[in-house]
Amino acid sequence: MDELTIAMPKGRIFEEAYELLVKAGYDLPKELDDSRKLIVEAPNEKFRFILAKPMDVPVYVEHGVADVGIAGKDVMLEHERSVHELLDLGISRCYIATAGLPNTAMNEMTPRIATKYPKVASHFYRSKGEQVEIIELNGSIELAPMIGLADRIVDIVSTGKTLKENGLVEYEQIVGITSRLIANPVSYRLKQERISELVEKLRKQVTL
Ligand code: PRP
Repeated sequence: MDELTIAMPKGRIFEEAYELLVKAGYDLPKELDDSRKLIVEAPNEKFRFILAKPMDVPVYVEHGVADVGIAGKDVMLEHERSVHELLDLGISRCYIATAGLPNTAMNEMTPRIATKYPKVASHFYRSKGEQVEIIELNGSIELAPMIGLADRIVDIVSTGKTLKENGLVEYEQIVGITSRLIANPVSYRLKQERISELVEKLRKQVTL
């Protein structure tokens, strides 16, 4: 049996992805959950996990250092990668939305939009025929309208708690997001049997 290298996101998506794999019947080491190791073997399954930042999962898969990976659709929309999207896992459900301070219009001259998703944001405002200036940030996007850096943000909303706790409101929903199983095209050909088995086992656990 070929070894399969799987890039797994650390953080938000991890727990649900881990649980899905366990429910699918895979015997995974506890270590995967509670160590700071970045590479963990699951010898019983001949899996090797690379624990990566969510944004980097498709990079590992595109370059073939991971055969498959679990990546948020947000990441896939923002950075086009040469990978196959095999399955919607239906986990880590959230959406990308615009938000800002309540009851505020956008600056008429040059509305400024802060985001981790410059491509998604540009595409959204272009499709509405609105010209905006995009300010790319790496996190804590909600700060931007609070401190006068931007009129709106384009960001992930999951529970809505972060917006609420920072006195912001949602304006428009842009796109729904879930995590996807992705594969390197060459691995998909060479390790088809193993990857198809993974897809089928996971598919049975997916609730969309
Ligand atoms: C994401 C997102 C929001 C928050 C939304 O940030 O950018 O800030 O989660 O979740 P909620 O609707 O459940 O409050 P993340 O925690 O990934 O960190 P970041 O600030 O580094 O983007």
